[in-house]
Amino acid sequence: MTKTNAFAAILAGGSGTRMGNMEKPKQFLMLGEKPILIHTVEKFCISNCFDAVVVLCPETWLRQTQDLLKKHCPAFADKVVVTAGGVTRNDTVMNAIEYFEQNCEVDAESIIVTHDAVRPFVSQRIIEENIVAARAHGACDTVIPATDTIVESRNAETISAIPDRRNLYQGQTPQSFNLNKLKELMESLTEEEKGILTDACKIFVLRGQDVALVRGDSSNMKITYPQDMRLAQALLGE
Ligand code: CTP
Repeated sequence: MTKTNAFAAILAGGSGTRMGNMEKPKQFLMLGEKPILIHTVEKFCISNCFDAVVVLCPETWLRQTQDLLKKHCPAFADKVVVTAGGVTRNDTVMNAIEYFEQNCEVDAESIIVTHDAVRPFVSQRIIEENIVAARAHGACDTVIPATDTIVESRNAETISAIPDRRNLYQGQTPQSFNLNKLKELMESLTEEEKGILTDACKIFVLRGQDVALVRGDSSNMKITYPQDMRLAQALLGE
């Protein structure tokens, strides 16, 4: 494969508490004939955009994740590396950065594309536009225009603001970055900032860096609650 200088990190280190009382994290639930995570990994493997694809899963799931890859996508199993995620989503992103630095040829131009394992319907267009935008701007976020009016309340009792919906978007993933820049900014966070900045794009915004918008898609949904599984099954059938 020719070098692309882009690296994919599939974030699968969460426990899926909002999905309910589960014996397994939601990324391992079956969607059609394969686990959600496998659908997502396939999207990144069929794209020829990456020098390496890493899946970051809970430490206790390393073996099962490797086995699932071998079982459901043997053609890709040796192209995908499985390694442990961290306690928070940001820790998982940091583990991905460390993996690429230690095992791949990372330089000043390298791009990292980070994607939620539980967004299995990401398209090739979205992945490709992420790489282009991250190269051009240093960082990008995938978004769709907000459909509902968003109401802000600072006391959970009365409205403090209703921002103009035309300026509002819903964040999806991938979020993609110049790898060195992301590392530098994440390492610059104070302990207090780490508690607030659970979104990597927000770190760039807080530090005054541009984050370009990539047009997402309503089908690039995140599976969070049990009812999202039904929607995902329906989308799979389309
Ligand atoms: N994630 C991760 N590492 C963590 C936490 C989350 O890689 N320490 C990943 C999840 O596996 C998921 C994505 O980040 O693919 C989006 O997070 P979310 O939907 O919030 O997943 P969970 O944290 O698993 O869910 P919940 O908040 O309901 O527990």
